[in-house]
Amino acid sequence: MFEIAPSILSADFARLADEINAVEEGGATVLHVDVMDGHFVPNITIGLPVVRSLRRVTKMTIDCHLMITDPGTYAEQFVKAGADMVSVHVEADAHLHRTLSSIRSAGAKAGIAVNPATPLGALDEALPFADFVLIMSVNPGFGGQAFIPTSVEKVRRLKQMIDARGLPTRIEVDGGIDEGNILEVVEAGADILVAGSAIYGKPSPAGSVRELLEKGTVWV
Ligand code: DX5
Ligand code: ZN
Repeated sequence: MFEIAPSILSADFARLADEINAVEEGGATVLHVDVMDGHFVPNITIGLPVVRSLRRVTKMTIDCHLMITDPGTYAEQFVKAGADMVSVHVEADAHLHRTLSSIRSAGAKAGIAVNPATPLGALDEALPFADFVLIMSVNPGFGGQAFIPTSVEKVRRLKQMIDARGLPTRIEVDGGIDEGNILEVVEAGADILVAGSAIYGKPSPAGSVRELLEKGTVWV
């Protein structure tokens, strides 16, 4: 069973608690929080105080996607602030094993995020130390971009790599997911589907989560 992770990047920040309750009511189980520093990506978003506040208003799994340089300096602080999952970019961290271990020992699931142009080979050594891999299906930095179609094949290859090694690693896919492409991404092996504009860009976020859950279900 796959999970929908609404990205609050496309939500109305002045009404964040309401926006979160709406997606939870629609059946979302993971809340995706995009942390951007203006260095690793050309955009600045939110940080630790917002995560602390979110923790007080939701029981959903809080998933912090760190699009920041030197993520090892901050990853553990995000766990302490209330994150249940924290992902760091392989392109941003020279000490990935250390960072992933620090996330796990602080009590959260550790993830490796991978940009569209980064080959899966970059994950090879670190894979056993991660609980999940986040495949970026757009270039990180902004919501509302078009899904890069070759990501489907990348997810399929990652799934094969994980299965061949007998690992329990989950696959999260982030960027441009909507009701038209969710099924092929789930069929390729994705477990967690992030969606921002396909949920918060619509009149009913709860209804959009329900629709994504329905459209992504593989009927056998
Ligand atoms: C992009 C972010 C995504 C983004 C997804 O850098 O990592 O999580 O919010 O938004 P959509 O679903 O609109 O592509
Ligand atoms: Zn993200």
